[in-house]
Amino acid sequence: MKETIEAIIRQAGEIITAAKKPAVFEKAGHANFVTQTDMDTQAYLIDNLHRAFPDAEFFAEEKENLALSDRPTFIIDPIDGTTNFMHGRNYSCIAVALAVGQEVRMAFVYQPWQREMYFAEKGKGAYCNGKPIHVSDVPLDHGVVIFGSSPYNLSLCRRSMALCVVFLEKSVDIRRLGSAELELCDVAAGRSEVYWELEIKAWDYAAGSLILTEAGGLIARADGQPLRQGEKTSVLASNPLCFEESLRLLRSVKEE
Ligand code: IPD
Repeated sequence: MKETIEAIIRQAGEIITAAKKPAVFEKAGHANFVTQTDMDTQAYLIDNLHRAFPDAEFFAEEKENLALSDRPTFIIDPIDGTTNFMHGRNYSCIAVALAVGQEVRMAFVYQPWQREMYFAEKGKGAYCNGKPIHVSDVPLDHGVVIFGSSPYNLSLCRRSMALCVVFLEKSVDIRRLGSAELELCDVAAGRSEVYWELEIKAWDYAAGSLILTEAGGLIARADGQPLRQGEKTSVLASNPLCFEESLRLLRSVKEE
């Protein structure tokens, strides 16, 4: 099963790297776009995964979705980091999680330009191109913090920016990279210590959440409550050393 899904995702990655100036369409929300390549990649993934696993359901960014059920469901973001992709920044990924109800059982995040395939299976660890990955053991005052700016919801921007100041004062530095799934993998691989964002969608974290926890990390909503797969949410992900302090910092800047 893993090999079949991985082969389909790698092939879908070719659609993204081969794309030249795809048509861009606006979606609801501030500065929220979809390109023809997002739609072509999603169609390729769903067609081929459906052929290989005819009983599976699909929950994906560029389609209408029902609530997650107890049937095996592929949660898909065909291009996480669409804004990066539109600007030729080559830092985006395909994210595919296989979930049963609230449990993500298998996860793939693929960076097609670097050909990096992050993979995790529940209880079996996390890997990048077949090599095990682990979160770091670096504390916050020596750590790098990634934040996401929740760009499609402008009502969150002041709190996000206020939190950046708070985290910058307590860490070595902050980063904004532009793909929530890759940012979760960054923490999972020990290249950064913390990632937080005040609002992301179900397909932006489903795969990365399993990769992160299988790599030894912790993940929750920004108020400390457990994530609910299939829902829009805030998120805090970090190595275990940074988690409580990051939670306290997130709570220190109140909602407006
Ligand atoms: C977005 C990216 C971005 C994050 C947004 C997401 P998309 O996903 O992950 O980094 O800040 O909240 O929605 O729209 O490119 O799939």
